[in-house]
Amino acid sequence: MKTAFFSLFALATSVIAGPVVTENQLAPRQLESQADQLDTLLALVQTHTANINSTTAAVQDNPSVDQQNAAAAALAPDFNAITSALTSATTLLAKRAWEDTVLFVRTGGDGKGDGGHGGGKDGPNKSCAKECLLVKIELLVWEIACTIKLVIIKLGLACVLQILTPLLLALVGLIKALDKVVLGLVIVVKALLHTILGTVAGALLALIIW
Ligand SMILES: *[C@@H]1O[C@H](CO)[C@@H](O)[C@H](O)[C@H]1NC(C)=O
Ligand SMILES: *[C@@H]1O[C@H](CO)[C@@H](O)[C@H](O)[C@H]1NC(C)=O
Repeated sequence: MKTAFFSLFALATSVIAGPVVTENQLAPRQLESQADQLDTLLALVQTHTANINSTTAAVQDNPSVDQQNAAAAALAPDFNAITSALTSATTLLAKRAWEDTVLFVRTGGDGKGDGGHGGGKDGPNKSCAKECLLVKIELLVWEIACTIKLVIIKLGLACVLQILTPLLLALVGLIKALDKVVLGLVIVVKALLHTILGTVAGALLALIIW
């Protein structure tokens, strides 16, 4: 009876705690591979960038300052959700499975950790080696950076700077964590961000300490 109560209580607490649920659920059964986590993360990010894109598209051209601020306020929940997703993913990725993954990358995916992941959609080989991880990370960075660019072009940087700063720092945090697996990743992503955002968001990029 007591036990039942406590496990119910623990369940309720973990539900209330939000993102922590994911971690608690994942911990007992081995964390999924980084590749699967990146797929999940990208899918989640895309639901928010889709919202951001349509919200931005609905803003009239050359918006007034009031319209800019109203649009920024409307965009904030989706941008903040991306920031939280990136932060949670970083925590999750940093926690475990590093040795496994590094080994996995080195051995070129000879079966350690394949099977059971079920997340791969690139054919029968579910293993995702270094190049594959890199592609997934680049897709994620492209998606986020291109969406940011679209917003800045339409609304200007000033009204979204406060929302975008933590987002970009969270993205860089994730990239730095993943650089342990995909060596040289930081350099690739830095170049990518400068290519996409250099002209519209130099002030934002200048805030990043790589
Ligand atoms: C949102 O727009 C950007 C820029 O056009 C694009 O790169 C991105 O793929 C779009 N995202 C979605 C989910 O439609
Ligand atoms: C899976 O990948 C390994 C090495 O990367 C390769 O030798 C093998 O042929 C692949 N299997 C399939 C079914 O594609």
